[in-house]
Parts: sequence; C-alpha cells; structure tokens
Amino acid sequence: MIDTKKQKLLLERIKANTRQTPVWMMRQAGRYLPEYLELKKNHSFLELCKSPELAREISLQPLRRFDVDAVICFSDILVIPEAMGMELDFQPAPIFKSPLKDYTDFSRLEFDNIKERVSHILDTLRLLKKDLEDTDKALIGFSGAPYTLFSYMLEKKGYKQFEAPRIFAWQNPGKFTEIMFKLAEIVTEYLLAQHEAGADLLQIFDTWAGTLSNTEYEQFLLPSMRQITNTLREKNIPVAIYVNGCSHLLDKLILTNPHVLSVDWRLELSEYLKQIPTGIAVQGNLDPTVLFGTVESVRQKTLSIISQAAQRKNHILNLGHGILPKTPIENVEAFVQIAKTS
Ligand code: CP3
Repeated sequence: MIDTKKQKLLLERIKANTRQTPVWMMRQAGRYLPEYLELKKNHSFLELCKSPELAREISLQPLRRFDVDAVICFSDILVIPEAMGMELDFQPAPIFKSPLKDYTDFSRLEFDNIKERVSHILDTLRLLKKDLEDTDKALIGFSGAPYTLFSYMLEKKGYKQFEAPRIFAWQNPGKFTEIMFKLAEIVTEYLLAQHEAGADLLQIFDTWAGTLSNTEYEQFLLPSMRQITNTLREKNIPVAIYVNGCSHLLDKLILTNPHVLSVDWRLELSEYLKQIPTGIAVQGNLDPTVLFGTVESVRQKTLSIISQAAQRKNHILNLGHGILPKTPIENVEAFVQIAKTS
C-alpha cells in the first residue's frame, strides 16, 4: 500500500493527482524575514550561500512560520557565473566586479568542473532532503536560465536596463547562440546535480526573457531552453519555468514543454489558463505588491485566483514574482492560510 503521508503534495498536483492546491512563494527564503535579517548581521550573503548549515537554516525558516508546501534551497542564480570565475561584489546588491565585454571574455571563463565548484549547494540540498524525508513538503532546486544569467554577466555601463544582451544578440547572432547553448549545457549539468542531491522540482528563473519580443524569443532563446527541458523530461525530472513579463510569450513558452509554467500577474489567471494546455501545470499569480495591502485585500485577491483555477487540477498557488523585502508577515500568513482553508 502507498503511504500517502509521504507523498509530496506539490508533485502530486503537477500530475493532477490531488484536489488540494499547494502553495509556496518565489524568493520565500531570505529578504523579508526578521530571522534572516538577523543572520545577515553576522554573515555576508555569499558566506550564507556557501555554508550548507546556514543555507539549510534559511531555507527552513519560511516553513517554521508558514504552512508552505515546498522549501526552496537558499542560494542565488548568480552563483553559477561566480563558479565560472566571475567575482561578485556587493554594493549592496550583487554585481560582477569585471563584467564581460565581448565573446573573448566569455570564452576565457571556466566551463569544467562546475559541479565541484558548487558542491556546497549540493550539500545544502542533501541536508534539506533528509529534513523533509518524512513530510509531504517538496524540495525545490533552481537555476537562472542562460539568457538571464548572461544579462547579469554582461557589461552594463552606458545601458539602462538589460539592453546589453539584446544588443549583443544583434551584433553577434552566431556567437550569442553559441553562448546560449554553452550556458544551457552548464545549467543542465547543474540542475541534474541538484536532482541527484535531492531536489524534487527544478525551477528555471528566466526573469529577463520578457524583454524580448515573441519572435526574438523563438529565434534566440527557444532552442537552448528546449535543450534543457528535453534532457530533464527524458529523465522524468519535473521542471518549472518562470519568466517575468511572460504574457506575450506564452505560445513560445509552451513550446519549451516544461511540467510547470510559473506566470506573472499581468493577466488574470483565467486568461493564462485559457492559453496553457491542461498537460502543463500553472503556478501563480498574485502580484507581490498586493501583500502590502490589508489582510482583507490579500484574502479577496487570493480567493479570486483560487476560484479562477477551480476547474484546473494542476494549479499551484504562488506569487507572480518574488516576494519583496519588507512584506508584512501577517499578510504572507494570510496568503498561505487561504490555500489551506479554501
Ligand atoms: O527564497 C528564495 O527563493 C531564496 C533563493 C533565491 C535568492 N535569489 C536569494 C537572494 C533565489 C531563487 C534567487 C533568484 C534570483 N536572484 C533571481 C531570479 C528570481 C527573481 O526574483 O527575478 C534573480 C534575478 C537574482 C539576482 C539577484 N540576487 C538580485 C538582483 C539580488 C539583489 C536584489 C534582491 O533580491 O535582494 C540578489 C540578492 C539576493 N538573492 C538576496 C537573496 C535573499 C538578497 C541578499 C541580501 O540579503 O542582501
């Protein structure tokens, strides 16, 4: 007989096997929690990422407060370029000390032994795997997508917000594609290692892909994204894709064929559900700024999302982007509780 207690609600929901709506929040560890900010007083951000015991503690902090259905490993998308040899600086947000200027700079990076260079993250996942073993909580690993990683790796002086990767793509389309595929290889290797270390679901954050047009997404990003998802799919490893500003890209994001599409708040959830085939689970989509309103407005907006998804057997409640610093804790609590009681 199957021991249903140990089944992970989130994974069951992805397969449309449960009527219960699971809930977790992007960026739920760190940022806004007082106990995280307390730890930050004595440790640098990278120190926290690189100490498996501390990273484990921060990953578990949200679970001690809220009845979320998943724990996301505390780390950052920028640890991969760091592992490739790009030094991080904090002012106070992380930025690379010597951003890439051209293809030659990229080709000088380290591409081998990435797994060994991020072994501390794999150690954190192993610890968390044990912590969650006898629970119905899932463990989430993640990576930045090739395009979003490259956006942070490039020289930004003289540009405003992330025009640099698009300019690079038009100036060197061949090299750009080569870079996307090379980063896709590394991201795949990293995600597979996280799965081996215990991650149940892998989320790929492509935060900046929404700055591309639908046609450019297809031309420049879809092939390398498909390379990542195809490899994970072949191995039956659940993968979620998140793009901020995704509503104009839906038809192409569907073609990346993930198990889960994590959508932003720009459209009502019902609009997204109409367009996304039922074979793909949908995650989202409360605007994180709603959590700064009253408990009553959080309740109303969240109930509206849940009721829009009432017919959908594979909706996962989440925010439309990461939870923001200074978010009032009582509203986070209300958000999570609504999923549990509705
Ligand atoms: O709860 C979690 O999800 C924790 C793990 C996590 C972090 N960053 C920790 C972090 C995850 C999944 C990320 C993803 C991430 N990092 C993304 C994609 C998701 C998104 O929100 O769009 C991006 C674009 C980054 C890059 C990044 N890291 C920026 C722009 C910043 C500075 C602004 C900020 O988020 O505070 C970071 C730093 C960072 N990453 C912090 C945390 C907790 C704050 C560091 C601090 O406490 O000083």
